[in-house]
Amino acid sequence: MMRTHTCGEVNAAHIGQTVTFCGWAHRRRDHGGVIFIDLRDRYGLVQIVCDPDMGEDFRHAEAVRNEFVLRITGKVRARPEGTANANLATGEIEVLAKQIEVLNAAATPPFLIDDDNINENTRLTYRYLDLRREPMQKNMALRYRMAKVMRDYLDTQAFMEVETPMLTRSTPEGARDYLVPSRVHDGMFYALPQSPQLFKQLLMVAGYDRYFQITKCFRDEDLRADRQPEFTQVDLEMSFIEEDDVMNLVEGMIRETYKKAAGIDLPNPFPRMDWHTAMAKYGSDKPDMRVTLELTEVTDAMQDVAFKVFSGPANSGGRVAAMRVPGGASLTRGEIDGYTEFVKIYGAKGLAYIKVNDVTQLNETGLQSPIVKNLSEASLKAVMERTGARNGDLIFFGADSIKVVNDALGALRAKVGHEKGYLTDTAWAPLWVVDFPMFEYDEEAKRWVALHHPFTAPKPGHEEMLESDPGKCLSRAYDMVINGWEVGGGSIRIHSEAVQEKVFKALAISPEEQRAKFGFLLDALQYGAPPHGGLAFGLDRLVTLVAGAESIRDVIAFPKTQRANCLMTEAPNAVDEKQLRELHIRLRNPTQAA
Ligand code: AMO
Ligand code: AMP
Repeated sequence: MMRTHTCGEVNAAHIGQTVTFCGWAHRRRDHGGVIFIDLRDRYGLVQIVCDPDMGEDFRHAEAVRNEFVLRITGKVRARPEGTANANLATGEIEVLAKQIEVLNAAATPPFLIDDDNINENTRLTYRYLDLRREPMQKNMALRYRMAKVMRDYLDTQAFMEVETPMLTRSTPEGARDYLVPSRVHDGMFYALPQSPQLFKQLLMVAGYDRYFQITKCFRDEDLRADRQPEFTQVDLEMSFIEEDDVMNLVEGMIRETYKKAAGIDLPNPFPRMDWHTAMAKYGSDKPDMRVTLELTEVTDAMQDVAFKVFSGPANSGGRVAAMRVPGGASLTRGEIDGYTEFVKIYGAKGLAYIKVNDVTQLNETGLQSPIVKNLSEASLKAVMERTGARNGDLIFFGADSIKVVNDALGALRAKVGHEKGYLTDTAWAPLWVVDFPMFEYDEEAKRWVALHHPFTAPKPGHEEMLESDPGKCLSRAYDMVINGWEVGGGSIRIHSEAVQEKVFKALAISPEEQRAKFGFLLDALQYGAPPHGGLAFGLDRLVTLVAGAESIRDVIAFPKTQRANCLMTEAPNAVDEKQLRELHIRLRNPTQAA
């Protein structure tokens, strides 16, 4: 070993000892004759004192610049009276250098390693420098610890890790595939897996009983703060189980992970909520339960009002919902305008509101708002009663298609809740969302699509509705939500070929297409498929939440930008003509690619 100790581990107990460190020059300060170097490695920081008395090697100390790689031998001593640093594990001591060896020089870095206000593009371009920063090192260590606790937990529960292919055929999880052209098969493509879904089900058919895998998944979708084109799932599947078995087991895993990796106590058990309630009260299938604001249904009360903005959607299958903000009458005009702009992101055309001055007067005196004159007394009465409004409150309204109202008011609820402090006193609010519908109607494609994925089983007794009333059919899916983030999702699967065919049919997948795309699954279901189910967590999201990071990019060593670029390697990149020819590919826009 080139070192005897790491930079973070020396303390008062080492005083008098001669030690050797290897690390990076975090900072160098020249105090007229005496040079101080803060030496850094991933374990911490130690102060080195270089005195001209040390001889020849003092010249090395003089040559040191930020981020030089050094090997330093010296003697540990107490810091002089009054100079101890309580914020540093090594803050009571310093090391008087005897020898300094420059293992490697470093160019001037584009940013200081302890700067925490660096442009993200610069950070991503020099990710290897960014990863030297303490917040990133903490995040990477947390990620490792969380994955380790989960792996150990699953191991104690008799799960076995099995790897599944990366070069495969498309699995429908709802996103676009990343395709890989085949050289050997002219015109053919592999797809990178969107998840190991079908392979893990086939492992159940094969009798592997309890499978897990911590693995990369690939989805070509619009990226956001909580999405990456390649991300990591903690994926698992079990046989001979029902919903509660999977949910209890993984809930235990998440509780243990939070506790062991971060010292956080999560409630036991996690509350459960059915999907319809979540959409009705929170406008979201992943509600942030720390926020106390709720939506109130007023669609039925708005059918006969003169205000077309409300009666229109109320009479044509849309939704009118109210959101009461206690004490919200004090919101300023500017704040309300800001929220009105905000809901437009979600397709809302406006944000009507009523300031409640006096609930007992259902008119323009008691209720301050330009829309009041166009609402009937009965409708206002319904709003006030159902929302439980009190004097001094403000009530927001959304009126549009169900989707737009839910998206807009759901997002507004979280925004107002966090900005204005309508919060419970719990820091962590996990939730199971259950009883999802099997399908949602895709207006553009004019057909039903799976809300989870096409391999999710319908609720017992709902199979009959697959054909007669697909919109009413509930599934055996469950999602785990923490603080408004969907961290995991899963379901009990279909293990009968006949039911699987019915679901494909409901999704308007023709028998020919079923055969072509999923023939291997339908075949496997004929050879003794056990009842099975499972779930997958998004590891990046779980870690981001615990780390308190803003984006999942901050917990991934080498992430992509929102435009799916790697700024460091400059992927994706153009390839040469020879490679393309081998892959039987001719580009449509060769100049653009070049
Ligand atoms: P699902 O599509 O819900 O289910 O994915 C499981 C979890 O993976 C995370 N996740 C993502 N994280 C980062 N970037 C992304 N682009 C991204 N997409 C998804 C989420 C999500 O909850 N095969 C099923 C699981 C199953 O049924 O067992 C599946 O993939 O946290
Ligand atoms: P208008 O009749 O367009 O002047 O709008 C009156 C009020 O209703 C304004 O406060 C608008 O912001 C609001 N509003 C307009 N469209 C909607 C809608 N679809 N949902 C909720 N409020 C709306």
